[in-house]
Formats: sequence, structure tokens, C-alpha cells
Amino acid sequence: MFKRIVIAALALVGAMPLLAADMANGQLINKSCALCHGIHGQGASGKLSPRIAGLPREYIIKAMKDYVDGTRVYPLMVRTSQIDKFTEKDFTDVAAYLSALDLSSDERFNIKSTFGDPDEGKSIYRSDCRNCHARDAYGKPSKEAPPLAGQHPEYLFTTMRGFKEGHRIHANDREDDSFVDYGDEDFMNLAAYLATKDDRKIVAGYEFNPPIFRTNLALRDRDNLSDSIQITDITQTVVRMAVDAGITTAQAEKAMIAKAKEIGLKKVAQQKVSQFLSKQGVEMPHLSIFQFCNPLDARLMVMADPVFSSYMPCRISMVEDADGKLWLMMLNLDMLINSKLLPTEVVETAVRVNQQMLDVMNAGSAGKP
Ligand code: HEC
Ligand code: HEC
Repeated sequence: MFKRIVIAALALVGAMPLLAADMANGQLINKSCALCHGIHGQGASGKLSPRIAGLPREYIIKAMKDYVDGTRVYPLMVRTSQIDKFTEKDFTDVAAYLSALDLSSDERFNIKSTFGDPDEGKSIYRSDCRNCHARDAYGKPSKEAPPLAGQHPEYLFTTMRGFKEGHRIHANDREDDSFVDYGDEDFMNLAAYLATKDDRKIVAGYEFNPPIFRTNLALRDRDNLSDSIQITDITQTVVRMAVDAGITTAQAEKAMIAKAKEIGLKKVAQQKVSQFLSKQGVEMPHLSIFQFCNPLDARLMVMADPVFSSYMPCRISMVEDADGKLWLMMLNLDMLINSKLLPTEVVETAVRVNQQMLDVMNAGSAGKP
């Protein structure tokens, strides 16, 4: 009896770090991926940038490690994002963040194929692929086969060609010869068929073997799947950066204000909460709140919808935790940006303002602009 409880407790402890993936860290890491995959992990319809948003977490982790150890070859990605220096936590966090992004209900991210015959592709798919990638191409975890629906057709085409020519391994099997008898036309038709599939069901239809993922999926199912990011963790609603060890509050503050000035963000206010209370004899850990605003951006957002005024001005808090460690925090604007609630005409502004705020935080955490 006792033994069983211990085992159950251990299983829980083992499971916790995955559930509590640090979405803020994942989001931060994603900034470097965004260079090629887009800030929403949307990829580009050019052959060189696959969509990574909404892919299963395990698959994303595996793919990244495959690039690090050379099983898959794309050195530029490893170098640019330094994924060879990632900790296990980094892999988990960025994969959790990306897999929680759901682009399916946003028309801007619809997948279309400009080539191929989807009916021809369907018949090949049904006979040769569905066994592993599942009937509607939403992937099958028991076969470790990723979803193919929702992927850019150009990338799929190039990838299948790579399987045929042998410079990419299919199905984790160096001996796999599934593609040798196909030609370019078959690849085009397959890609065209896969492009007809909505990627929405990637999240809903993919079940993972490890129970932890099922838990996660159940969480998501309860939410409305049309929401782009499912909040599975409170840290997902904020972006946090630790201030580097040795950097004082004054240095961080100076760096943030200098950076804001440099990029045209106006500091409109600063509430020195702990300092204020301290003068009245009330002690608390450091807390100050910086407010920034660019009036022209504010104008654009509010004219699109007055409701955005409630997000203004943009705030960054500098706050000390119980261990005396200093943090910078702000609202996770990507959540709003990804939510599809934003009118298209303000998306660009929101993305830019978000990046500016992150730049200011970055400067603060490093103690230099
Ligand atoms: C310099 C551009 C670049 C950067 C930066 C980059 N990637 Fe990639 N990534 C690519 C390209 C190109 C491919 C496809 C390469 C291939 O054909 O195998 C790819 C493939 C992938 C795949 C496999 C997708 C699939 O469907 O199999 C994953 C997962 C991935 N990248 C994740 C990331 C993550 C996470 C980051 C950031 C930590 C990142 N990438 C940064 C360019 C980049
Ligand atoms: C025996 C099971 C199996 C069959 C049958 C199969 N696949 Fe796969 N496929 C896999 C697995 C497993 C992977 C992922 C391997 C990895 O992690 O690199 C994969 C990966 C892929 C990828 C790469 C996805 C990406 O995002 O980079 C494509 C494209 C693909 N398969 C297409 C097909 C097509 C088209 C067919 C039918 C002609 C097919 N597969 C049949 C198991 C299978």
C-alpha cells in the first residue's frame, strides 16, 4: 500500500515539469525561431520554412534534437537559434509554446496549394500513407508519425523528394523505400491533397502515448478550440525575464529607459511602489512599474477598437521575488496577437509594440541598452 503511494507520488513528480512548461521561456526562445518560422510558427509558403505551430510537442522536441545530432541536416537553424546549447527545459518550453499555437481559425494562415491534383493525391494517400499518418493526416502518435495536414505544400514536396533522393530519412528508418517509386507529379498531388485538410484537428485529433499529454489534451478540449492559445499555465499570461545577477535595480532601470528612448517609446510614468511605501515605514521587496506609450500607435489601436485602451499604456514591472531575485514582467501580448481577436489592420502595430517592449525588457535584464 505504502509502496504504491510512493510510486504514484513519484509519477506525479515526474510528470509535473512537463505540465508546468515555462511558456514565457518558450515564448522568449521562439523569438529566435521567428526569424525563419514566423512569430506565430506559421512558416512560409516557400519550401524553406515549415509550419511548426500546432505540431505535437514530442515531435518538435525530437525534430530539434535530430538537427542537433545531424540526423536531420540544417546547420543554419542550429547556429542561428543555438539549439545545440539548449537545456532539456529549453526544448520542452519552446515545444510546449509552439504546440499550443493554433492557427487553424485564422484565414491569414490558411494553407493553399497552387499545384497538383488533390484527388490523385488522395488515392495515393489512402492506400500508402494513412496507416501511419492517420485517415485525415492528423498524425498517429503510436507510429510516431506527425500530422501532415496544415503543412505548407512546398515544404512537403521538397521533403518527399528528399526522402526519395535519400538525404532525408523517412519514418525513422534508413532503409525505408516508400518513396522510390514516386515521381514529382505524385509528390505534387500528395501535397495538393494534404493542403485541402484543415489543420484545426491537429490539436484535437493528436493523442500522445504518455499520459501527461492526454491530460494536457483534455485541458485543451475543455477550452474552446477556436482560441488560438490555450492557457495551461498562469505564466503563459505573462512574459518574464530574470535580471542578470549583479545588475542593480538602478542599472536595470537606466538601461530600460535608454533603450525605450532609442526606439521611440515614451516612458509616461513610473510608479515606485516599494520606495513610496518604504518612506512611510512599510517594507516590501522591490516593486516599480514602468509605463510606456507611443501615442501614434495608441491612436491606431483605439480607432480600430476602443477596447484596446484597456491595454494601455504598456507596462513592465520590476519586481523582487522571495529569494531576492529581480524580475521584469509584462503582459503576454502575443496571446492577444495570436487570439485572432485583433483586427488585421492593427496586427502589425501590435507585433511591433510587443517586440519593442521585449527589447526594453531585454535591455533591462542585461543592464545595458
Ligand atoms: C535560420 C532559419 C531557422 C531558424 C532560426 C529556426 N529554424 Fe527550424 N527549420 C528551418 C528550416 C529551413 C527547416 C526545414 C529543414 C529541413 O528541410 O529539414 C526547419 C525545421 C524545423 C522543424 C521540423 C519541422 C517538421 O515539420 O519536421 C522544427 C520542429 C523546427 N524547425 C523548430 C525550430 C525551433 C523551435 C526554432 C527556434 C528555437 C527554429 N526551428 C529555428 C529554419 C529555421
Ligand atoms: C510506417 C509508417 C509510415 C508510413 C506508411 C508513412 N509514413 Fe510518413 N512518416 C512516418 C514517421 C514516423 C515520420 C516522422 C519521422 C521523423 O520523426 O523524422 C514521417 C514523416 C513524414 C513526413 C515529414 C513531415 C515533416 O513535417 O517533416 C512526410 C512529408 C511524410 N512522412 C509523408 C508520408 C507520405 C506522403 C506517406 C505515404 C506515401 C507516408 N509518409 C507514409 C511514418 C510513416
